[in-house]
Amino acid sequence: MTPVASNPAARAAELRSQLQHHAHRYYVLDAPEIPDAEYDRLFQELQAIEAAHPQLLTPDSPTQRVLGKVLPGLVPVRHAVPMLSIRTETDTTAAGAEAFDARVRRELGLEADAPPVEYCAELKFDGLAINLRYERGVLAQAATRGDGETGEDVTQNIRTIGQIPLRLFGRSDELPELIEIRGEVYMRRDDFERLNERQREKGEKSFINPRNTAAGAVRQLDPAQVAAKKLSFFAYGLGDLRGWAQPDTHSATLDAIAAFGVPVNGERAVVHGAEGLAAYHRRIAARRDALPFDIDGVVYKVNHIALQKRLGFVTREPRWAVAHKYPAQEQMTRLNDIEIQVGRTGKLTPVAKLEPVFVGGTTVSNATLHNLFELRRKKVRVGDTVIVRRAGDVIPEVVGVVPTARPHYVPNFRMPRSCPVCGSTVVRERGGVDHRCSGGLFCAAQRKQALLHFAGRRAMDVEGLGDKLVDQLVDGGLIRTLPELYKLGVAKLAALDRMAEKSAANLVAALEKSKQTTLARFLYALGIRQVGEATAKDLAKHFGSLDRVMDASVEQLLEVPDVGPIVATSIRTFFEQPHNREVVEQLRAAGVRWDEHDGTADTAPKPLAGKTLVLTGTLPSLGREEAKALIEAAGGKVAGSVSKKTHYVIAGEEAGSKLDKARELGVPVLDEAGLRALLA
Ligand code: IVH
Repeated sequence: MTPVASNPAARAAELRSQLQHHAHRYYVLDAPEIPDAEYDRLFQELQAIEAAHPQLLTPDSPTQRVLGKVLPGLVPVRHAVPMLSIRTETDTTAAGAEAFDARVRRELGLEADAPPVEYCAELKFDGLAINLRYERGVLAQAATRGDGETGEDVTQNIRTIGQIPLRLFGRSDELPELIEIRGEVYMRRDDFERLNERQREKGEKSFINPRNTAAGAVRQLDPAQVAAKKLSFFAYGLGDLRGWAQPDTHSATLDAIAAFGVPVNGERAVVHGAEGLAAYHRRIAARRDALPFDIDGVVYKVNHIALQKRLGFVTREPRWAVAHKYPAQEQMTRLNDIEIQVGRTGKLTPVAKLEPVFVGGTTVSNATLHNLFELRRKKVRVGDTVIVRRAGDVIPEVVGVVPTARPHYVPNFRMPRSCPVCGSTVVRERGGVDHRCSGGLFCAAQRKQALLHFAGRRAMDVEGLGDKLVDQLVDGGLIRTLPELYKLGVAKLAALDRMAEKSAANLVAALEKSKQTTLARFLYALGIRQVGEATAKDLAKHFGSLDRVMDASVEQLLEVPDVGPIVATSIRTFFEQPHNREVVEQLRAAGVRWDEHDGTADTAPKPLAGKTLVLTGTLPSLGREEAKALIEAAGGKVAGSVSKKTHYVIAGEEAGSKLDKARELGVPVLDEAGLRALLA
């Protein structure tokens, strides 16, 4: 992988200048041009040259220092205890764990027959390291890592993160006089996706990945901008400490931090020996895609603090900890072509055809480019080297172009004027960013996607109805509408390619089984625009019966929590179309059924029925969403501002103008305990 340099001195100089450029983009601007994995490769190439030719090593080489400069405008903070980094094991196989355990045993001078070493294994969160300084339990300062010795004061920004307590839990006489809690600010993948979806809908620039977005937000100069991004936090260790007896182990320390009310991730585990580490690495690898946030590896730490002290440090890295990586979630590859895909709602999506690349643990050869505007903004052209990101079960996407000379002239990409599948006119809604095929269910692509959606695991859950089969059913003219799916017989199916009597019978049985469903699944399966799984559930719960949903006015629909005017109008429009009502009737006639209730069957007690509450400030243990969910489950409504109609204001730490307003209007003000009493 590392090219053999014919002139090592020249290559080293070239690498240094490239690394300097990219490090600045990454650490100072939070806007990298190349994937981390590519940066690591360049860095390692330079390290290798310097190791082979020590005379080439210069004091200003990027290999000789920890990067991270203070952004002009932010105030530097000298760390009381340096913020260290950890050594990284890049061998992504189990051998990486063995190497670490062997080194620890050797350095502790353990005999071969000594019992296995105890470790605390944790996730390696992909975000920005932050030091939280609590003085007598109160958050006094938050700082970035910077170069490890000096970071930046980001207290105001960090205070906007609801998960971080402004005051630690516990009796004040039991709280440490001083404690620095260190951890990672990160962004959940769903929060990141939502943010980017909003950006794309507005036709604005989308963000590359959750890490850079979180890091960029924390180091912004305007706290209001930070609050607009939804950031999260996990603690993983301590810094300075006074007036508190730290537990004997790292794992117990994390438990204590959690008891202070600071989030600590639940995937941590105490394991023993190399095998325990490797098993943890494997277990988390299998769960990586299912986690709600990005990780780039796991971290192993010797669990007993006494042993950590014996092991000590080499330069800036502790000997008792190591990061064990997973395959990178961003890689560079060549964009060979751009194709158009027609989705369920007719949306035309430009799809990148890529030189296959191993990213996020699988080989990717297609990635979404989202829409024409996004593609233009990123200046993507066929032949470019692009950055592909695949994280979790999110569809792989092209997040950027690596600025290099274009190989040759390539014309700008254009959206076709007619649908590449059915030839219907392509339209763009006024002010919208999406191009759509106007063919509706006349368009085979839309029919196929509608069928796949209908049969999907979270919709009607028809096992065995995959895209190959749907292609045949639609292309062969066997299915034109959703209800026709239930008319398929074994004989017709068995005649299809790659289908035998047995598989045909299985599919018919699966179709039969799918008929017994729930109202929520059925509503979702219909593929109404703007109605995702969550909205379908809300509708089912609120109305209880399909007829009531179908006949609901926009005003009635707006009474459903989280349903806004766009969603309500979309539902109303859908059921106003006679052909959609017909599809529903035919499906019912085919035997699709579910349990209904009269809309009041939710028999849980509703102590807050008819009450409107307003939340303000940070509650000690309940997150805002959590508190809202509890209030709504109890029949109450949560409003955004205080008025004479407000029944209660629930105020936490740092409550602001809403609290003043409540006092002014004489609205009762309660704390979290008061809220819990209301709910009970
Ligand atoms: S421990 C002395 N634990 O990875 C040990 N670090 O170089 C200090 N990171 O930027 C770090 N997850 O912010 C530790 N569970 C974890 C971590 C973690 C992510 C980051 C950390 C730092 C880098 C370590």
